[in-house]
Amino acid sequence: MPGAEAAQVPRHIAIVMDGNGRWAKARHRPRSFGHNAGRKAVREVIEASLREGVKALTLFAFSSENWQRPQEEVGALMSLFVRALDKEVDELHGNGVRLRFIGDLGAFDEPLRQRMHAAMERTAGNTKLQVNIAVNYGGRWDIVQATRQAALAVARGELAAQDIDETRLGQWMSLAELPPLDLFIRTGGECRISNFLLWQVAYAELYFTDTLWPDFDQACLRQAIEDYARRERRYGRTGEQVTPLS
Ligand code: FPP
Repeated sequence: MPGAEAAQVPRHIAIVMDGNGRWAKARHRPRSFGHNAGRKAVREVIEASLREGVKALTLFAFSSENWQRPQEEVGALMSLFVRALDKEVDELHGNGVRLRFIGDLGAFDEPLRQRMHAAMERTAGNTKLQVNIAVNYGGRWDIVQATRQAALAVARGELAAQDIDETRLGQWMSLAELPPLDLFIRTGGECRISNFLLWQVAYAELYFTDTLWPDFDQACLRQAIEDYARRERRYGRTGEQVTPLS
């Protein structure tokens, strides 16, 4: 029954794409070589998500902490983003992908910012799959910016402080308009969240794999989705409440 099968597919997947550096090191190549290879893996998961019927895919491309990396690596990543935007947007648009960048975009230089905004505007009408690229993003930053918006609404007299609740604050969090995060994947063997989507991860299923990001392909995504389909999501209730015994 196709409906039952579709329910097993997460509507919203987030990925911490870790392991590019180690992948390059194993090949005695610079870290930027690993990031370049990581770009192919991004294509793979976008294609697989389109095929699987995933509605939103959120990728951690550059954290607010990544600025601390050697200047050379940060520069290589920035030019990789520019090249990727110049090369991939046409095809993504043709495939019905809506592109969004989330994070504090103000820190990027003007040409890159312009490209990001142009890509968002160009693909704004697409509905098949939304791909969110988190850049200069941090989960704590996200909670702070939502809180700031709530404080401003209170200051303007549009909202009473006692009316701030999870639903209200959640509306200001990045990606609030999308289906809730179902599946959180991290490649590269580490088992941590690393300040990604802290608010949104509350009820997501977590999936950690040793596979290094450049090796993550469509079969790897399928495996993660199959693992997700076997999980029982209880949201604080008992197993019997979720799946009553017949
Ligand atoms: C983490 O691996 C990866 C990054 C900080 C960069 C992610 C960027 C890409 C995958 C490039 C393509 C992205 C787009 C959106 C075009 P790491 O360097 O921390 O690896 P390590 O843990 O092995 O050192």
